[in-house]
Amino acid sequence: MSETKNPNYFVLVNEDNRLPNGFEDTVELIPSENIAGNQFQIEKKTYDAFCALREDVLKNDGIQTVLLGSYRTIEQQEKIFKSNFEKFGLDYAKKYVAKPGYSEHHTGLAIDVGILLEGKLYRTKEELLSVDYLFEIIQKKLPRYGFILRYPRGKEAITKIAYEPWHYRYIDSLSIAQEITDKGMCFEEYCQKV
Ligand code: DAL
Ligand code: ZN
Repeated sequence: MSETKNPNYFVLVNEDNRLPNGFEDTVELIPSENIAGNQFQIEKKTYDAFCALREDVLKNDGIQTVLLGSYRTIEQQEKIFKSNFEKFGLDYAKKYVAKPGYSEHHTGLAIDVGILLEGKLYRTKEELLSVDYLFEIIQKKLPRYGFILRYPRGKEAITKIAYEPWHYRYIDSLSIAQEITDKGMCFEEYCQKV
């Protein structure tokens, strides 16, 4: 029988807090593939929670969500940062992409969610921002599945990241996810409080 891994679901990874050494050894990553054929890895409980959220918003709100990505290695983050920097400049890259080693995508507990609408997959930042009204519906349901909106609007000065309606973080506690959401806090504020 394989040993059960138990990561710290409350780990804070941001501009000032690097992924802790050895964190990846505590995470059970499973492979996943989306309808566009993109393959990636994701932490097991995070995946199960996303599937439940996906089913809820599909059944009850008619919104089709697609997992765009989750776990990233430091090398993958380097590539994403470099390509955003080259295309859009440093300011833009820093607003939307964490420094390699400082992205919570390294934990496997963060997900990026796209939307399939009338046969079109919304997946670029511009496309995703254009369907913010759908993300707002999804965001209300996040805590029921143990997720929080990680980069809320209005908290950019604290998170140091622009509003990302598509990036959710699994924290494995429905009650704390609900508290963070109800109080309109970002994760940094919650971590400072406890
Ligand atoms: N887009 C988020 C901030 C990341 O790169 O981790
Ligand atoms: Zn993300």
